[in-house]
Amino acid sequence: MSSREDIAAMRRHYGEVGLVEANLPANPLELFNSWLKEAASNEIVVEANAMVLSTVSADVPSSRTVLLKDLTEKGFTFFTNYGSNKAKSILENNNVSLLFPWYPMERQVIVIGSATKVSRSESESYFATRPRGSQIGAWASEQSSVLSSRGELEEKFKEFENKWDENEQIPTPPNWGGFVISPTSIEFWQGRYSRLHDRIRYVRDKNNNWQLMRLNP
Ligand SMILES: Cc1cc2nc3c(=O)[nH]c(=O)nc-3n(C[C@H](O)[C@H](O)[C@H](O)COP(=O)(O)O)c2cc1C
Repeated sequence: MSSREDIAAMRRHYGEVGLVEANLPANPLELFNSWLKEAASNEIVVEANAMVLSTVSADVPSSRTVLLKDLTEKGFTFFTNYGSNKAKSILENNNVSLLFPWYPMERQVIVIGSATKVSRSESESYFATRPRGSQIGAWASEQSSVLSSRGELEEKFKEFENKWDENEQIPTPPNWGGFVISPTSIEFWQGRYSRLHDRIRYVRDKNNNWQLMRLNP
């Protein structure tokens, strides 16, 4: 295992390896997947699939972290409570951004796109794979609403814990499910020497082809 000092020194190495147009794939999801894999296997990147989701409703922006749980040609999927602030915001205005902050690798990816609910069956399939405690937690938490105390939440958890036998499958709460963000723009940022960072943005055109451009850092 590398020491912290060794890893910090590796940053300089990343600075040498940049984004070169000739080596970039036509589809940004391919590049995203390889960066995600590298982040996941980097021992100092915590929660490589964590992304900051920003929404705007009534002209007020808000951001929070969620976990990427699926990535297909349709887009980036996360799961949440459909009564939460973020879900209400999306239902009012489905233009969102996602930011993957892979600081130890001197990398950042920013996605802009539109969010839509995934199918109920997709949400149910994922819910079934969650640990039992998280499943009960999803029933107990009215995400984003005010609690009178921690005790109130724990009481609700106990209530739901007793609702199903240990061997019984816990159903997906009606107000819980996924959103998929269909990307219209994906920007890759790679730290380079002398602040001459690489910024490569892919933008989806009218014909659904990705156009690639390099931006000033
Ligand atoms: C590392 C991390 C991962 C998280 N993942 C999720 C998630 O996948 N879904 C979710 O609803 N909240 C997740 N949260 C909690 C959210 O950041 C947020 O507090 C919560 O969803 C309520 O947000 P809202 O009131 O803006 O709707 C996560 C928080 C952290 C720090």
